[in-house]
Amino acid sequence: MKVMMMMTKMKISDRREELEFELWRTKSAARVESAMERSLAKQAKDSHPGTAKLFEAMRYALLGGGKRLRPLLSLAAAEAVGGRQREALPAAMAVEAIHAYSLIHDDLPCMDDDDLRRGRPTCHKIFGESTALLAGDALLTLAFEFLAGNGVKSLEAGRRINSAALHLARAAGAVGMVGGQVLDLAFENSGNRDIEEVRFMAARKTGDLIAAALVCGSALAGGSPSELKTLRALGHHAGLAFQIKDDLLNLTGDPKVMGKAKGSDAEHGKSSFPALLGEEGAERELRALAEKALAAAASFKLRGRNLRFLILRMVNRER
Ligand code: IPE
Ligand code: IPE
Ligand code: MG
Ligand code: MG
Repeated sequence: MKVMMMMTKMKISDRREELEFELWRTKSAARVESAMERSLAKQAKDSHPGTAKLFEAMRYALLGGGKRLRPLLSLAAAEAVGGRQREALPAAMAVEAIHAYSLIHDDLPCMDDDDLRRGRPTCHKIFGESTALLAGDALLTLAFEFLAGNGVKSLEAGRRINSAALHLARAAGAVGMVGGQVLDLAFENSGNRDIEEVRFMAARKTGDLIAAALVCGSALAGGSPSELKTLRALGHHAGLAFQIKDDLLNLTGDPKVMGKAKGSDAEHGKSSFPALLGEEGAERELRALAEKALAAAASFKLRGRNLRFLILRMVNRER
């Protein structure tokens, strides 16, 4: 309730701040988008003609819309620790490439079997399963190429890239996102799971990459160990809240606005938050987590302003 009030208050009283955030969001997302586009186009240009379809599928998944929340979190985290967007750009691109790969694979018939994503046919529907699978693999490796950026220019730069790469690899792999996806599938139609198990699954499949977006962005921008720790915890609160919102939208959202199917979680017998806690219970948990994330962002004072708006966006979204 307190968060609701905070959110409403912020919306009414800080219109100018909100407009500034909108401007920041649009400009920053465009910056990440064009950097990814340039990089991918360069690779495609030098590649074997026989791989043209693979690059087309990668492009389709990486550059075809999406809210760009994770790269924006990387950039906002860099600002929160007093760094520059430019420094965090490789992390922003890397996290988005991993996210794009995870969505291609998540939609495959052997996973969630979805036909619609971002208002368009899913990658495998357009390019076929084998190309979609391989485009996902290629985006995962491209992420680490993005992260290495233009090379190591100093010992300190190398140390920061190393730290970000380690965080990102862990967050995306078997002890992070991939592990979470395994649990998500294992929990399908498996009866009433314990809520703690579902929290753990969601924290791995969604929270870890969101936390990594913040940690990697701030690591490249020279954040201190204690700042990284705060951002990691913030990411886990916001990430879990984000997944609860995703589950709620799957139940009650407008498929036209979301650009993806509604009701598929129930159809697949997914262990979603509303399935376990009810709609109101899930909503309550979402608000409590958002409050914790907002409190962590507030510790960065004025520098954490865009981060705060991003958290609000993550939990108040309709798509
Ligand atoms: C959807 O993520 C998948 C989840 C982890 C819940 P987003 O809602 O961020 O997807 P896009 O990138 O905006 O399409
Ligand atoms: C997606 O979770 C998580 C990852 C891709 C790692 P969901 O399966 O719940 O997300 P949507 O609803 O398909 O976007
Ligand atoms: Mg899934
Ligand atoms: Mg899915």
